[in-house]
Amino acid sequence: MLKVALVLGARPQIIKSAPFIHLASEDKQVHLDVIHTGQHYDYEMTKIFFEELKLPDPLVNLNVGSGTHAQQTAKVMLRLERILQKQKPNLVVVPGDTNSTIAGALTAAKLHIPVAHMEAGARSYDMKMPEEVNRRLTDHCSTLLFTPTENCTKNLLKEGIAKNKIHQTGDTMYDALIQQMPKAEKSPILEQLGLEPQKYALLTTHRPENVDNPENLRSIVEAITRLNQLTIVFPAHPRTQKQLRKFRLYSAVQKQRHIKMIKPLGYHETVKLIKNSALVLTDSGGMQKEAFWLKTPCITLRETTEWPETVKLGANCLVGANTQRIVHRATEILDKGEEIGEKLENLPNPFGDGKASQKMLDAIKSFAPSLTFTTT
Ligand code: UD1
Repeated sequence: MLKVALVLGARPQIIKSAPFIHLASEDKQVHLDVIHTGQHYDYEMTKIFFEELKLPDPLVNLNVGSGTHAQQTAKVMLRLERILQKQKPNLVVVPGDTNSTIAGALTAAKLHIPVAHMEAGARSYDMKMPEEVNRRLTDHCSTLLFTPTENCTKNLLKEGIAKNKIHQTGDTMYDALIQQMPKAEKSPILEQLGLEPQKYALLTTHRPENVDNPENLRSIVEAITRLNQLTIVFPAHPRTQKQLRKFRLYSAVQKQRHIKMIKPLGYHETVKLIKNSALVLTDSGGMQKEAFWLKTPCITLRETTEWPETVKLGANCLVGANTQRIVHRATEILDKGEEIGEKLENLPNPFGDGKASQKMLDAIKSFAPSLTFTTT
């Protein structure tokens, strides 16, 4: 029996891992333990996804909570080390690029337990992003690297990672989207918010570079205030809500009648909202891809992206947190709605065929007999 531990802790990691958790849990040759770090702890940031995606309860929750990057990462390492020493898994799987990802990878590597990185090879080439640090270091201490796209594979090869460690599986977030689409379609969120398809834009922002910087956050608020020709739905991350209050922008957003600022949403509600919106404005990595798959134009509120595939295909554009650029691009998209819609319908999908999680599990099982910590 192959013992696998999967370490997750933040909202997007639960979504990415869900199809793999289901497959591995049903496989008789595999014993899977899910370890939740507790990086996210609010109902809307974690539990709701376990419920919607029908995931088994984690073996343990390390309850690390919020803190500085060093505190959060170190707390996960200290608490996880004890669990891994006790459980003795043959492999530790870490999804994505959060502090829980790097903490999981480092702890396992130091115990000489092989690491498998789900969503390996993504690069924004911006080392100021905590996620860029996390994913690069995770890739370099992993034994199995599962890449979502050819570009991610190339990034790893450029960094000298051995070809035989890399498996281009496709994107597990795409698997999740395909599997959950029928349920997402049934979400009553449009009626609940009084929205009509294509008559609203969806905004999310939570990156430190935007929400911890008063100028950037103010520019984004200014842009959505000006975009009053349509409704803006704004599910605000807890960190964003806190920062809006701190920079005295909260009531400025609330008093705009065309802006609906609401609490963070579940997965099905989010997917339904993305699919039916005229455009998505976001600084999230995952939502850039979800908008692409759901054929909704995306405006990314950053200067770089780890998903250049979507930009190259013309489905996404980078505008930073610049009011003029946001408003200009959004207006352009709204003016050319139909033309853009047709273009998005016909794009190739570089993110695989929706079977990435099965390919991951197959690769893990075929490597199982020789699965040892690589010393090079
Ligand atoms: C983390 C990930 C990011 C991912 C995001 C998804 C890192 C470095 N970042 O960012 O890649 O896109 O998750 O949401 O790991 N908070 C709550 N309740 C919660 C969780 C957080 O109120 O359940 C608030 C706290 O004020 C906390 C802040 O949000 O300090 C930031 O949380 P944190 O886990 O540090 O990072 P995220 O911004 O969520």
